[in-house]
Amino acid sequence: MAIANVSRYVQRQHTSVNNEKAVSSDPYADIEPLLEFDWSTTTPIKIRPFKPRYHLTMALETCPLPELVAIDDTYLERMALRRSVLDDHPKETYLCNDPCTEAVFEVYAWMFGTYLPQRYPTMYTLVDQYEGTVDSKQQRRSLYNIPANKYIPLEAPSAMEALYILGCHVDTDILILLPSSTAADGSPIYHLEAFVCCFPSGFKTQEKLGLPLADIHKPVPGYKAKIEKSMDRFFAKMELGKAVRRANWAITTDISLYSQGGTHMYEDGKTEETGENEGEVTGRKVVENRKTLNVDAPDVEESIEQQKKNVRIEDCRLRCERQTLHRLTKTKALAFMFKTYQYKLEDVKAEGSGPELADAIAGLALGSVPDMAFYKRQVVWGDKVVEYLRS
Ligand code: HEM
Repeated sequence: MAIANVSRYVQRQHTSVNNEKAVSSDPYADIEPLLEFDWSTTTPIKIRPFKPRYHLTMALETCPLPELVAIDDTYLERMALRRSVLDDHPKETYLCNDPCTEAVFEVYAWMFGTYLPQRYPTMYTLVDQYEGTVDSKQQRRSLYNIPANKYIPLEAPSAMEALYILGCHVDTDILILLPSSTAADGSPIYHLEAFVCCFPSGFKTQEKLGLPLADIHKPVPGYKAKIEKSMDRFFAKMELGKAVRRANWAITTDISLYSQGGTHMYEDGKTEETGENEGEVTGRKVVENRKTLNVDAPDVEESIEQQKKNVRIEDCRLRCERQTLHRLTKTKALAFMFKTYQYKLEDVKAEGSGPELADAIAGLALGSVPDMAFYKRQVVWGDKVVEYLRS
């Protein structure tokens, strides 16, 4: 072959390889691996999303799909805790409405068959297992969870079992949404239709099942006025192959990761709305969470004072969630996932973030939604925590 021809031939080969790559490159199938990842020496990421003034915005940023699940040295203890929470609270921690069965199976198959073994090959590996007698052996492909020394079937017998197994092997809560209703203009409204949620931060996930985003967020002050419309629009338009993330923060006055109440208090009448909203599930009562304080009671000030006395700095935690959102490739459902981080206040102080967090605590009442200070119970823990952080 003449030299010019050889070079054309090589070029053609390159082009065709690149084209093949471009055609076969599927963001859900090709997950960039962390080949050297050692979970046992990886410290939890430090999330410090606080700002001097709290402004209620969606605050979403792009998240590469491979970064959806974060793992660190708390993995095994977290997994043990998640399993015990699931076993102790089976009715509260995982549920699925029938129309969401396929989406649950899709999350399960992708997480265990593709995402985890590709992203974390040092932790999860696909293996063939053989069952039956010597004469009639059956081959079954499973995912081997190396740190836990457990085999995970690649197919789950039911959506509920799929959620349970996901809860036991992934340190990330998973909430799945479907476009179960439509707004007046015909655009889809997303509802929570299945979840495995071991670490709710002061809300009852089971009472949110079936609700549209707007009703899920009813207790959140300012949600309706500031972000409801953009949220619905964003969820409706969320593209395939893309993911976004955000982080939140709160101070909790106890150390439990599983908390169905007590983290928030709601200002009655201001944040709770009645009446029919677009996308509301017909005939369903809008959720009402437990309040830690009855703001209508004549002794409200006294009650706050009483709760303030019970605040012990050593029990307080800075609690942050790393939240992600992505669309599933087959069912087109949306998966909202979050991993919860807890930091001792003494560690936050030791790293030098004390003044910054103290400013943010004061700033809860100074931003676009001053009621946020009340919602986050800052009126109870604020003084003591700020004093400690500035000392
Ligand atoms: C990705 C966009 C989202 C944004 C910007 C957002 C925003 C917020 C905000 C600002 C709060 C107030 C509490 C805080 O930040 O500490 C909140 C609370 C909450 N969010 Fe979201 N959220 C999003 C997605 C979701 C989704 C998809 C779900 C569930 C399917 C969800 C469930 C909740 C729940 C259960 C609460 C607690 C409400 C309560 O106190 O009862 N969020 N969210």
